Amino acid sequence: MDNHIAIAIDGPSGAGKSTLARMAAKRFGFIYVDTGALYRTVGLYTLRSGVGTRDAQGVAALLPEIHIEMRYDGEGVQRMLLNGEDVTDLIRTPEVSMAASDVSALPPVRAFLLDTQREMAKKYDVIMDGRDIGTVVLPEAQVKIFLTASARERARRRFRELRERGVETDFETVLQDIELRDRNDSSREIAPLRPAPDAVMCDTTEHDLDGSFELIREIIEAKK
Ligand code: DC
Repeated sequence: MDNHIAIAIDGPSGAGKSTLARMAAKRFGFIYVDTGALYRTVGLYTLRSGVGTRDAQGVAALLPEIHIEMRYDGEGVQRMLLNGEDVTDLIRTPEVSMAASDVSALPPVRAFLLDTQREMAKKYDVIMDGRDIGTVVLPEAQVKIFLTASARERARRRFRELRERGVETDFETVLQDIELRDRNDSSREIAPLRPAPDAVMCDTTEHDLDGSFELIREIIEAKK
């Protein structure tokens, strides 16, 4: 990280990491790095290739064909380029979510994406969100936050978000997906989802967006 400041936000899907990290990046003048988008991009490529998303050897063999770039548009929105194609919107479907969760359990995939993440923190002051930022990617981050909310509350938020985007689904399916991904992300052997020992725990179940932002703003201001 050299002389840059890094804020790591980890937690399960739907806890509000990306929304809150984006708000905090704006407030504190940091670059927001959404690392889930990297795993999603690998997940999309794997689905398109027809290789099973849990097929470790098959997915590893695809990696040399994958070139991922992260770009920031004028509004500071992170765009994902997969071999030159802008896949920013394509990686947001439930199918790609599950593929991302699967490929993220594979050690070669994690190794493949590690440098890209660390390079960002070397170049900029970053707020980076993911599952293993405070534990593996940036263990020296000055601020570490572990953001949680109950599975039901996270499913409620995700369901609303999908509906607003016009994705057809029902609440029970979203809840099951969240619970399955929680199990997948927390039980994998490599870089499982768990709080770093020095992370500040932050539960947003009972808080709306503004209330949650106040919680993390205070944590960041106290630690930065
Ligand atoms: O944050 P997200 O839902 O976009 O992440 C998609 C998947 O990628 C998620 O199921 C777990 C995985 N992931 C990971 O293993 N490590 C990260 N740093 C970020 C995401």
